[in-house]
Amino acid sequence: DILSYVLCMSWMFFAECKSVNRHEIRKIPDGLIFGTATASYQVEGAWNEDGKSESIWDRVTHTKPCPIQNCDTGDIANDSYHQYKRDVAMMRELGVDFYRFSLSWTRILSTGFPDKINEKGVQYYNNLIDEMLKYNIQPMVTLFHWDLPQKLQDMGGWTNPYIIEWFTDYTQVAFELFGDRVKYWFTINEPREICYQGYGSASLAPLLSISGYGDYKCVKNILVAHAKTYHMYKKEFQQTQGGTIGIALSVTWFEPESEKDAEAAEESRQFQWGIYANPIFSKTGDFPKVVKETVAAKSLAQGFSRSRLPELSPEEIELIKGSSDFFGINHYTTKIVYRNSSFDNNFPVPSYYDDIGALTHQNETWETAASSWLKVVPWGFYNLLTKIRTAYDNPPVYITENGFSTKEGLVDDGRINYYRLYINAMLDAIDEGSDVRVYTAWSLMDNFEWMAGYSERFGLYEVNYNDPKRTRTPRKSAYVYKEILRTRELDF
Ligand code: NOJ
Repeated sequence: DILSYVLCMSWMFFAECKSVNRHEIRKIPDGLIFGTATASYQVEGAWNEDGKSESIWDRVTHTKPCPIQNCDTGDIANDSYHQYKRDVAMMRELGVDFYRFSLSWTRILSTGFPDKINEKGVQYYNNLIDEMLKYNIQPMVTLFHWDLPQKLQDMGGWTNPYIIEWFTDYTQVAFELFGDRVKYWFTINEPREICYQGYGSASLAPLLSISGYGDYKCVKNILVAHAKTYHMYKKEFQQTQGGTIGIALSVTWFEPESEKDAEAAEESRQFQWGIYANPIFSKTGDFPKVVKETVAAKSLAQGFSRSRLPELSPEEIELIKGSSDFFGINHYTTKIVYRNSSFDNNFPVPSYYDDIGALTHQNETWETAASSWLKVVPWGFYNLLTKIRTAYDNPPVYITENGFSTKEGLVDDGRINYYRLYINAMLDAIDEGSDVRVYTAWSLMDNFEWMAGYSERFGLYEVNYNDPKRTRTPRKSAYVYKEILRTRELDF
């Protein structure tokens, strides 16, 4: 294995990299661009340097007893705050067209509000962006990738409708500061994880468990905050800056176990991502019908005087409808859906999963990443892209994340296999008419994997966390990804 890794590093012996399933040679269509991604809290470190204030992830990782695996924190992370030049060097080594990274709200606005701009924090992003542009690597910027100012969380965070104002004030500052050079914007990364895991199941910061209630309040506020940012960009910046802006949703594929579970699978899709996609991308707008009706009925049965799911007014429906230039998709895996008659479908207390009323599992036989939830199911990616094409009138699709986790180690055949199979599935969908324009590998390098700390590695580059310099070394997959981008062919 080590020998194949070493040989693989040299293009002359690149054939050695073909250690896994051989496919036919497939051309990558012109116009499809490739990159990698990270997010601020997961890589930057420097958590309290140069005027940066506390985010909800600083709070969670500093909580005792520590809720994170191995008590890991992002205090130093990959030290990207000081090592952006090395990060850009890796992008050049890979030959990517773009790099997707996120801005830390508390690094730019120490108070969370736009009363005072933190110049040193701004300088970091200017340095990073300018260094990338020097080598013609396009910056794609996520405005919010989970590190909310703690102070705003103290006031309810995403459950407080004032966040619409807090968020748009912050995003306006970001457009003013960086929009002359940034032409791709993502408002919010993975609303489902922010709302459900942050405010429902206590599995991401701020670790609240107000399932079936807090998570739904968050959903509406996120949609409105996103849409207002979108329209602000279009109105105030589009003409002078000429960029494109949208949202990145996490979209798992839900496959029915058998024909009788088709409805349950569709219901799961609507609850898990249709709740965001329908208001933004469907012709009618608004929350999906099945979600509205189910939550309303259960709420009334539970004694609530109104649905736990907030309503969208006709004005809000109009505001949100069409508020994304593309459908941004973070996709990793697939789940099988079934209904089980013994499942108690009428909990007396609110619960998001009870509202869905369907169960899921994954096949034992599917290959698994270092993250237990991540199983290799390339046909699920194909089915998903097909569904997006048919359900939402073939929107431009940006794959904003796709990737596979391993343990430490440079020989990562599991990751190579995953990327090849998933890119192949994507090309199948493109052949059938899906309008995919962007593909992003998660991640450029290992990073802080939230509650799992550094135990699950997603990087094309390995990061050595025992070394204060946080040395980065290309994995075998880095050479394979580079070769796909260089040849613009899937097999070599
Ligand atoms: C999606 C998230 O956006 C990212 O932060 C995370 O590291 C990856 N999934 C892998 O779980």
